[in-house]
Amino acid sequence: MKTRYILLAGALLLPALSHGGGEELLARYSAAGAGPFDAERGRQAWLAEVTSGKGDARSCSSCHGSDPKQAGRHLRTRKAIKPMAPSVEPARLSDPKKIEKWFLRNCKWTWGRTCSAQEKGDILTYLNGL
Ligand code: HEC
Repeated sequence: MKTRYILLAGALLLPALSHGGGEELLARYSAAGAGPFDAERGRQAWLAEVTSGKGDARSCSSCHGSDPKQAGRHLRTRKAIKPMAPSVEPARLSDPKKIEKWFLRNCKWTWGRTCSAQEKGDILTYLNGL
């Protein structure tokens, strides 16, 4: 009986000890039929430029930079954005709600559409592996 409780406590703690939000979302995307995820595809998506309706070329790297281990700079406000790689900035990709909120907003702004579960999984795999 006691072992069971210990196992349960361990299972509850695990997500907090691993990459947290990133891992949880990957499991969710997989459950939705996406995957396997590929870091190289994620890297290409990160750099892919799409011409907006206004005629300017946009990519994730427009604000976050082409090297996610370095700080980025917001295209319009010029405000600094902390590095996106959790290896450099441990608070990154730790909260599933925050990740999904920004995926929604940034995919729409950058690519003019939402990102698929496959694309989001590839990008998280890329960033988590840096
Ligand atoms: C116009 C500027 C801009 C562009 C372009 C942009 N982002 Fe962001 N992104 C931000 C800002 C601002 C934040 C929130 C501030 C922060 O977390 O430092 C953010 C946060 C995020 C987060 C949440 C990070 C976390 O800590 O959980 C993710 C994930 C993300 N962006 C992914 C993307 C992806 C993928 C693209 C390309 C499809 C993209 N962003 C394009 C500005 C941008």
